[in-house]
Amino acid sequence: MSKPWKPDSWRAKPIAQVPTYTDTEGLSAVEERLSSYPPLVFAGEARKLKQGLGRVASGEAFLLQGGDCAESFAEHHPDNIRDLFRVFLQMAVIMTFAGGMPVVKVGRIAGQFAKPRSAPMERSGDVELPSYRGDIINGIDFDEASRNPDPARIEMAYRQSAATLNLLRAFAQGGYANLDHVHQWTLGFVSESPQGHRYQEIADRISEAMDFMRACGIDADSVAALRTTDFFTSHEALLLGYEQAMTRVDSTSGNWYATSGHMVWIGDRTRQPDHAHVEYCRGVENPIGLKCGPSLEPDGLLELIDLLNPDNEAGRLTLICRFGADKVEERLPALVRAVEREGRSVVWSCDPMHGNTIKAANGYKTRPFDLILREVENFFAVHRGEGSHPGGIHIEMTGKNVTECTGGARAITEADLKDRYHTHCDPRLNADQSLELAFLIAELLKRDRREQPRQSAVAGL
Ligand code: TRP
Ligand code: MN
Repeated sequence: MSKPWKPDSWRAKPIAQVPTYTDTEGLSAVEERLSSYPPLVFAGEARKLKQGLGRVASGEAFLLQGGDCAESFAEHHPDNIRDLFRVFLQMAVIMTFAGGMPVVKVGRIAGQFAKPRSAPMERSGDVELPSYRGDIINGIDFDEASRNPDPARIEMAYRQSAATLNLLRAFAQGGYANLDHVHQWTLGFVSESPQGHRYQEIADRISEAMDFMRACGIDADSVAALRTTDFFTSHEALLLGYEQAMTRVDSTSGNWYATSGHMVWIGDRTRQPDHAHVEYCRGVENPIGLKCGPSLEPDGLLELIDLLNPDNEAGRLTLICRFGADKVEERLPALVRAVEREGRSVVWSCDPMHGNTIKAANGYKTRPFDLILREVENFFAVHRGEGSHPGGIHIEMTGKNVTECTGGARAITEADLKDRYHTHCDPRLNADQSLELAFLIAELLKRDRREQPRQSAVAGL
């Protein structure tokens, strides 16, 4: 039997990565108000996502999760949301068509505001100030007023999330995602790139298939699946006061749900089994992500699985592996074997971003695209070897033509980083690089599928 749980039971536990608010009264007042505001997402939607992830866990679908490292107040603009959504659709369509797998679409968006930091304080010359922890907590400018955690920001983040989600729902359900528009998702600056051309070819073939089906009497007007898509939201459940205030009982099931997003995850720095973040997440019914870094041992993982998914429910738990390109083959097999041995149902997802961050010679934080691709390839290779399903990918990306990660078909160099380096936190894949990655994954999925029918044919003899 698991121990009793309440939305605030995390408060009695040790906690890492919390900001120190000086305005504690203001903080309580904001949390109080938020707890009576409308939920951002509904329990039924979270259940639907869990179902989709259940299919991923059993090898029948693929998870695409991505978005900004951190959302910001300054970049809250409909064009940014639209451009991210477009690239997301393009990636999904590449994987669905070329990889031959349904894709579960989950944005790192509409709530991805709080950031764990490697140090609580930042020093510049003689001045030492609290580190920037994301726009929901403090400001990025290096001055005392900005860096002091401000409770009013929590309410701003809630309202921005609501507006973002409103637009995403309109895009996903209102016609933008219609497969008849597959050519229109191409962003101007991508259309002339090698990835743009590759995408064009796939889009042509999809249009042909749509024409064929229309001739057969099936079209997007009559079949909703051809003109809409399900797009879910997710973020790191880091700022637990906010999460608690957004936690509600679902009236149809009587269970607790996080209503700040469909899926929330626990960071690699806050996954201590007896600490607050695991305590909060174990009690809500949403799909949960768990970031798994190189320090996680098989026993530690099994302990966390027992806490977070005691009933072994399919789709409940996604293990987001972020080892670094050169450590995957060393660290991942033991985790996969332990989970398989114990018969635990999980989604294996690959975060190829966070283990491959380096500092360029000119001081920019960057990620070599080659290493990102290599981590994904190694992740697929390990699962091939273990006979498990490489279930998904978790990336930091943007629809903008930024220069934050080096490499890719357009060969961004360290000297290019300064041109369009806009991120508020970690370097993101730009639209071209995102498409290139999607093509690689589609090929890997297709290869695995080609081999699978052979295996089952042999087994069936
Ligand atoms: N509804 C299906 C899905 O979401 C097909 C689909 C419609 C689709 N629009 C899409 C797939 C856009 C990818 C991208 O998978
Ligand atoms: Mn990040």
